[in-house]
Amino acid sequence: MKTRRKWLQGLAGSAGMLALAPRATFAAQAAGAQTGSQGGAKAGARAGEAHTGAQTDAQATAGASGLITRAIPSTGERIPIIGLGSSATFAQVARSEDATALRQVLERMVALGGTVFDTAPGYGASEEVAGRIAQELGIADKLFWATKLNVAPRGGGAADPAAARRQLETSFERIGRPVIDLVQVHNMGDIRTQLPILREMKERGRVRYIGVTTTFEGQYQALVDAMRSETLDFIGTNYAIDDRDAERTILPLARERGIAVLVYAPFGRTRLWRRVAGRELPEWASEFDAHSWAQFFLKFVASHPAVTAITPATSRPANMIDNMGAARGRLPDVAQRKRMIELVEGLPSA
Ligand SMILES: NC(=O)c1ccc[n+]([C@@H]2O[C@H](COP(=O)([O-])OP(=O)(O)OC[C@H]3O[C@@H](n4cnc5c(N)ncnc54)[C@H](OP(=O)(O)O)[C@@H]3O)[C@@H](O)[C@H]2O)c1
Repeated sequence: MKTRRKWLQGLAGSAGMLALAPRATFAAQAAGAQTGSQGGAKAGARAGEAHTGAQTDAQATAGASGLITRAIPSTGERIPIIGLGSSATFAQVARSEDATALRQVLERMVALGGTVFDTAPGYGASEEVAGRIAQELGIADKLFWATKLNVAPRGGGAADPAAARRQLETSFERIGRPVIDLVQVHNMGDIRTQLPILREMKERGRVRYIGVTTTFEGQYQALVDAMRSETLDFIGTNYAIDDRDAERTILPLARERGIAVLVYAPFGRTRLWRRVAGRELPEWASEFDAHSWAQFFLKFVASHPAVTAITPATSRPANMIDNMGAARGRLPDVAQRKRMIELVEGLPSA
């Protein structure tokens, strides 16, 4: 079986080339690497539970380049299943003086076919630094920008509409585009005030998709209520192999209501890394083309049919390449998902 290091060594060369000749070069590489893989998701909502029609419904398609994409239900537009998040370590590096690594991270993602970039005004310097880098690299138009809006006080309370509009205008300036792909209300902050502002921006053609996010358990009910009562293109929430609460209500409801799902914290930030520290990836991970723990965790999430895209955060180019590897090849089926869960449940808790 290929180790993560060997797999990365192979791809690092490709990504270097790709920075010069993005898709054409990779298409040839990918064609070889992806032989026989369709990226079909066969996962069930619950491990071990039959999930009828999941593969079709999952809308997981490996295109000509071999990259797995999913359709945004409200329009049918397809986006790559793996993207990039920008809180955590990305935000730490964005705050530092040297953002060279982030430049390479963004460059690698685009070179490998990724587009979805999740950010927020609440992530310190991330939105601003990424906006500047993307403009310098000339990739601002290639990215699917997913940013957020929230000026409500922490812990609840009303948002000032004028302040909300100012925050949005600042995002437009930082991103440097007249139209932003997706803006979501961050952490369910005063959606009564902020969601109508986003709706208006969408009607005016300045924002293409709107949604709401939370990763806080105490806000799940509010998220579910909004999914039932509002017209949303997207939600963003946490889902990981050892954090599967979303499988109970949120993910099935997203499918039922035709809402796209951006998955956050697919590694539980540092939790899963601590849990697998010093452990070898099992041989059988190669049955669904996972060559690293990152790909193992991401492919688990990607194999849920409600998931539209996953945005793991990284500040390291090698990890970006690793993560993009999860957007290629086979995804685990129901039985494989069950086996993956059993393995993770046997690990020490973090
Ligand atoms: N309410 C919300 O809207 C909300 C809440 C939470 C998260 N989010 C979004 O979701 C994104 C992802 O969540 P997250 O940042 O909390 O956590 P995460 O993506 O689960 O984990 C990030 C951590 O994993 C490490 N990592 C990434 N790729 C790796 C690889 N291939 N191998 C080893 N380590 C790797 C990163 O370190 P390195 O830098 O060293 O790679 C970082 O420490 C956020 O950045 C944000 O954009 C949104």
